[in-house]
Amino acid sequence: MPEAFFQEDDRLPQTPEPSTMVIFGASGDLTSRKLIPALYDLAASRRLPMEFAVVGISRTEMSHEEFRGKLRKGLEEHRSEEFSEDVWKSFSAGIFYLPGDSKEPRTYSELRDFLRSLDEERGTGGSRIFYLSSSPSLFPAIVDGLGESGMSAEDESSYSRIVIEKPFGRDLASARELNSEIQSRFREDQIYRIDHYLGKETVQNIMALRFSNGIFEPLWNQNYVDYVQITVAEDIGVGTRGAFYEEAGALRDIVQNHLMQVLCLTAMEPPVTFDADSVREEKVKVLKAVRPFPEGEEYAVRGQYGRGWVWGEEVEGYREEDEVAPDSVTETFVALKMFVDNWRWAGVPFYARAGKRMPKKSTEIAVHFKPTPHTPFARAGDDGMEPNVLVIRIQPEEGVSLKIGAKVPGSGFEIGAVNMDLLYGTAFLEEAPDAYGRLLLDLMLGDPTLFIRADEAEGSWRILESVMKAWSEKEEIPLYPAGTWGPEEADALLESDGREWRRP
Ligand SMILES: NC(=O)c1ccc[n+]([C@@H]2O[C@H](COP(=O)([O-])OP(=O)(O)OC[C@H]3O[C@@H](n4cnc5c(N)ncnc54)[C@H](OP(=O)(O)O)[C@@H]3O)[C@@H](O)[C@H]2O)c1
Repeated sequence: MPEAFFQEDDRLPQTPEPSTMVIFGASGDLTSRKLIPALYDLAASRRLPMEFAVVGISRTEMSHEEFRGKLRKGLEEHRSEEFSEDVWKSFSAGIFYLPGDSKEPRTYSELRDFLRSLDEERGTGGSRIFYLSSSPSLFPAIVDGLGESGMSAEDESSYSRIVIEKPFGRDLASARELNSEIQSRFREDQIYRIDHYLGKETVQNIMALRFSNGIFEPLWNQNYVDYVQITVAEDIGVGTRGAFYEEAGALRDIVQNHLMQVLCLTAMEPPVTFDADSVREEKVKVLKAVRPFPEGEEYAVRGQYGRGWVWGEEVEGYREEDEVAPDSVTETFVALKMFVDNWRWAGVPFYARAGKRMPKKSTEIAVHFKPTPHTPFARAGDDGMEPNVLVIRIQPEEGVSLKIGAKVPGSGFEIGAVNMDLLYGTAFLEEAPDAYGRLLLDLMLGDPTLFIRADEAEGSWRILESVMKAWSEKEEIPLYPAGTWGPEEADALLESDGREWRRP
């Protein structure tokens, strides 16, 4: 048989090596709502090795059984798909709980001993993933605890990886400090900074669309693209997360991570291969090329939702939400005009916005092409021709549509705009895996392509530094009624260029 037959095909599903995932912050929301459901789904689709264990740590006193019961409840609440008693039985047999304070050195010696005993009893093989699903203020203590107790060390047959949840710092200085703290105990290739947006199939599809088709890339530059609009809109408000949001705001919660990642995937050069360093190198180059924001609100606008109507229901303003200050100036909306100063994108504006309490939930990238250089159909007044727009919809109704001009039926030669539409959901029969599931699997397989490198995290903060500084000195914020597309100032950002925001 030819030798190539035996070569590993990395397009085929792979099952990871035995390992143990230690979750710090195990009694918290993210563990029950995202991590355990994602791991359960991996177990159900037989993507987890038999010798796999989860060890949860937080201060709340619980037995292994009580912890399993809590997670099961979370699973039933947060997963809409059918629950299988058989899958749960075998998956939950590998779930354990250790009560402990992350700030106490004793927690780490107890954890180390417990993990060793698990390796012996369950054959988990000595490889560890430490998932930091707790408040960022605990990250330094956890990293030190793991380093001091020797658990960050690897040997030839086992690995030690650490996963850092967002937010990755609050600004450039704190991101740098966090990077150096983690890097003092772990090598960069052991560190996995997670942005779950990158686990979404449709976000990965931006790269698939651009780099697996010959027809887009020749047009994907300043010769043909007029401007690009990126929208990350949510119709919900802050709900029960008022206290968290007061500290974060839309810039830190969405723009620094998700929106900048979407910008990078849209603007990057084609990587040579789809390996971690090639892809991340190209993303970092985009971040380096983004023009620093000038002072003032000409290029960066923020807003906060007031009382209004969403989907026919009257909703409270941000300042009336629980745990929000009545005079808060935290932004729930951000609009930016950015330029990527390189050969490909010189002079092409990237307008980006993210907001809560918008009229609908929608994440999309709209690439607006330049008009045709000449039209043979022109008559007096409007000829009905509109420039082409390629829209990549990330959620909901994931897909791609291309607006093209077509002849309106009839005896004249009137042109109308029509959409060529592809819905991913109808094109493929397979269910898209959950974003966390995909990333957890990559993590176990040791593939960091869809995780954030240290310089990416810092590069993104660097771009936003001047905006954050300017806003921190302001005592007022423009308001917009809930259920609208943001404050008037956001419209003005485009109007001065003779353009307007899309209404997805
Ligand atoms: N929830 C989400 O949807 C989401 C999304 C993206 C990112 N994140 C990030 O993920 C992380 C966790 O979020 P979360 O929503 O799960 O937070 P959470 O519900 O507040 O959970 C925090 C966890 O930390 C534990 N904890 C607090 N102090 C501790 C200490 N001294 N020692 C040991 N454990 C301690 C808490 O349990 P005890 O009180 O029992 O100790 C709890 O289990 C945060 O960094 C957050 O920003 C969350």
